[in-house]
Amino acid sequence: MSPNDRVLGPDDLDGYLRLREGSFGYPAGDEALDAFRARLPNSFGAFVDGELAAVVTQHPYRAWAAGACVPMGGFGGVATAPEHRRAGHVARLMRAALDAGRAKGFGWNLLYPFDAAFYGRYGWASVPTGVPLALPPERLPPGVPGRLARVDGSARAGLAAPYARFAPTRTFADARTEGPWDAWEDLDEAPGQRVLRFAGTDAFVAMKLRDEAAGVRLDVLDLGWRDAAGRDAVWGILSAFRGQVAVVHLEAPWDDPVAADRQRAHAVAGHAGLMARVADVATAAAALRAVADDDAALDLAPLVVKVIDGYAPWNDGTWRLTPGPDGTEVEPTRGRADATVDVRGLALLWSGAAAPADVRRAGWAEGDGRALATLAALSGGRRPFRSPVDRF
Ligand SMILES: CC(C)(COP(=O)(O)OP(=O)(O)OC[C@H]1O[C@@H](n2cnc3c(N)ncnc32)[C@H](O)[C@@H]1OP(=O)(O)O)[C@@H](O)C(=O)NCCC(=O)NCCS
Repeated sequence: MSPNDRVLGPDDLDGYLRLREGSFGYPAGDEALDAFRARLPNSFGAFVDGELAAVVTQHPYRAWAAGACVPMGGFGGVATAPEHRRAGHVARLMRAALDAGRAKGFGWNLLYPFDAAFYGRYGWASVPTGVPLALPPERLPPGVPGRLARVDGSARAGLAAPYARFAPTRTFADARTEGPWDAWEDLDEAPGQRVLRFAGTDAFVAMKLRDEAAGVRLDVLDLGWRDAAGRDAVWGILSAFRGQVAVVHLEAPWDDPVAADRQRAHAVAGHAGLMARVADVATAAAALRAVADDDAALDLAPLVVKVIDGYAPWNDGTWRLTPGPDGTEVEPTRGRADATVDVRGLALLWSGAAAPADVRRAGWAEGDGRALATLAALSGGRRPFRSPVDRF
């Protein structure tokens, strides 16, 4: 780290709140103070003349990647005081935070960008997740009614079990076991009318009804399914609101046929997208297994890949990967590379966000197609999706 950069401590709270005011306009309300105080040990600050000029917080949590539950970092509260912008502070702090995250086993970093181009130049790639749709329930598939039961009590008690069966099928699904936020609490405390929750063994959905001038609006806050029967069950319960509800707002998984079928007519402006970065090639690769989506072992040949990563020099270089059913052996090599991949292309291949041909077309991969196919196969037959309640 540069001499004027350091991890924040308890004495930095006032400076941190002052900086936040200038970037996010948040008042330093009492309620937020505890959460902000807890962030300080995970925050990297740049100081100019003894004053905090820029900050990056790396939240620690666990999430699923290719069917394995792994520790990850997530950048939030990225800010530079207006008078210190464009001096390179954030670019420097993010690198320091990524580097520090390696000791904590963070192979990946996720963030929700204000502008994808800003983070793209530092090696994050946009990955598809939910497609926000607004449509009458009649426009959703009928599904199969009566398969999910209403669950009362806390959200965790009602939904954690089906969630835990769903999450491994999705790369970047939060484990919801660790982290500075608690999706279950957010689902308990969603403002306005009480949250209705329905669950079965392999599927769940949480929603809120709201009266509006144009009729009743149903907001789906969280949803997931492990298999086709679970999917039918979720559409089935939403179908039950036909005739009662004027419009359903939901984030459909981007690769679900519902998203593809309805996107043109029913897509609405959503939140900032999700971006992912391979924070540490060796750590991320080690957790990737040679398995299909049902965890059956695949026979994947070893390969040598040259990774281009000008921002995180510990990744930049040539690696020999030997995939196995329990993980991938990774070692630096001087051998000749079968393929060359930009670190953004690596994030797309390993997360299942894109196929080799897509990454090649973007200019982020070249070389032997068999090596690229192996890198893509390490996604374990999964694709990205992260529930909107897991946003940080
Ligand atoms: C976005 C923000 C964090 C950038 O901080 P910063 O310290 O000025 O960033 P850096 O100086 O490290 O900028 C790195 C590069 O990005 C460019 N950049 C800075 N702000 C940018 C912006 N708003 N849009 C696009 N590029 C930008 C810089 O010119 C620099 O490029 P260069 O190296 O080619 O000169 C800062 O403007 C800010 O606090 N904004 C308000 C809060 C916010 O939106 N935070 C992001 C939440 S996801």
